[in-house]
Amino acid sequence: PHTLKLAVIPGDGIGKEVVPEGLKVLDAALAGTGTTVKTTVFDLGAERWHRTGETLTDEDLAALKEHDAILLGAVGDPSVPSGVLERGLLLRLRFELDHYVNLRPSRYYPGVPTPLAEPGDIDFVVVREGTEGLYCGNGGAVRQGTPHEIATEVSVNTAYGVERVVRYAFEQANSRKKHLTLVHKHNVLVHAGHMWRRIVEAVGAEYPEVSVDYCHIDAATIYMVTDPDRFDVIVTDNLFGDILTDEAGAVTGGIGLSASGNLNPSGEYPSMFEPVHGSAPDIAGQGLADPTATISAVALLLTHLGREEAAARVSAAVDADMAARATAAQAGAPLVRSTSEVGDAIAAAL
Ligand code: NAD
Ligand code: IPM
Ligand code: MN
Repeated sequence: PHTLKLAVIPGDGIGKEVVPEGLKVLDAALAGTGTTVKTTVFDLGAERWHRTGETLTDEDLAALKEHDAILLGAVGDPSVPSGVLERGLLLRLRFELDHYVNLRPSRYYPGVPTPLAEPGDIDFVVVREGTEGLYCGNGGAVRQGTPHEIATEVSVNTAYGVERVVRYAFEQANSRKKHLTLVHKHNVLVHAGHMWRRIVEAVGAEYPEVSVDYCHIDAATIYMVTDPDRFDVIVTDNLFGDILTDEAGAVTGGIGLSASGNLNPSGEYPSMFEPVHGSAPDIAGQGLADPTATISAVALLLTHLGREEAAARVSAAVDADMAARATAAQAGAPLVRSTSEVGDAIAAAL
């Protein structure tokens, strides 16, 4: 499209700081391409909730659906009971917009400080299921607050929901290094685990060129640290994927680098792009947040909208910034920059 209708949800905490940097880079990437961005900023998050008691109304949702894509910063604030915004806003969006693929790529940028002694050539994507599992809100509590309280959270896994995300993961693997790892815990979660395994086996039969292996989630967290370059495509459920992608961020140089696409592959609803990280109340309001994750989320957004050329230029600008970080770190003088200085540097490289 010549006009890209973008819904913007800055949200809470550092979400408000990193989103302007993402938009700055988006503008720079599309300058001179004939495409203009028309943004609609949505007032959603803690402030709105305190003011009105609303998290996400049907009207908000209908308005969001009128856009080509959504860019989100982060939601969640210590002044709001935990879960209100996370469930009522972020998860409601993922569910209502049928974001069944949560695509989370990780790459190691050579020379960038990492906790790993030998990071190797890390380049994998986690295909995290986005609409089911323990996130459904299927559960409850009885005798709350008593010594006899019972709280349940039941993981929901449908054959339909698992098959569609597994199929997406095989397509990814087929276009990459042709290796897929299922991560689950079928030694304990025998109902869901064995269903995931059977579906991976069945869909895998259609992709004979893709080699398939399996790790239990606990072992996967080991390999993520000891041998992360073994992974190409990881397919996993909603909660395991959540945990593993924070770890993936940490080992590749920090959670401030990890981007995420909540995809509705059919295109029926707008897909939503965001950093993997949250609102980081511990550093909010100080210009300390790394906006790179949000900027890389903009690259995912451009790819999703078929603007591969612009996406590649954003990724190249991020690579150049990471190379500058590596050079500085190796010289013993790590770059210390504010959120907007990083955004400016990446935008300038475009
Ligand atoms: P978090 O991701 O916000 O922060 C974890 C740690 O990473 C913190 O030490 C933080 O300072 C650091 N960090 C995060 N982003 C960074 C960045 N861009 N640059 C530098 N450092 C960064 O996770 P949390 O502390 O567990 O959660 C805080 C709030 O965010 C909670 O309300 C939580 O529910 C919410 N949350 C929202 C999302 C989302 O909107 N997608 C994701 C995760 C957490
Ligand atoms: C993420 C976050 C969310 C999740 C929370 C805030 C609901 O941790 O995007 O990774 O668990 O998916
Ligand atoms: Mn998370």
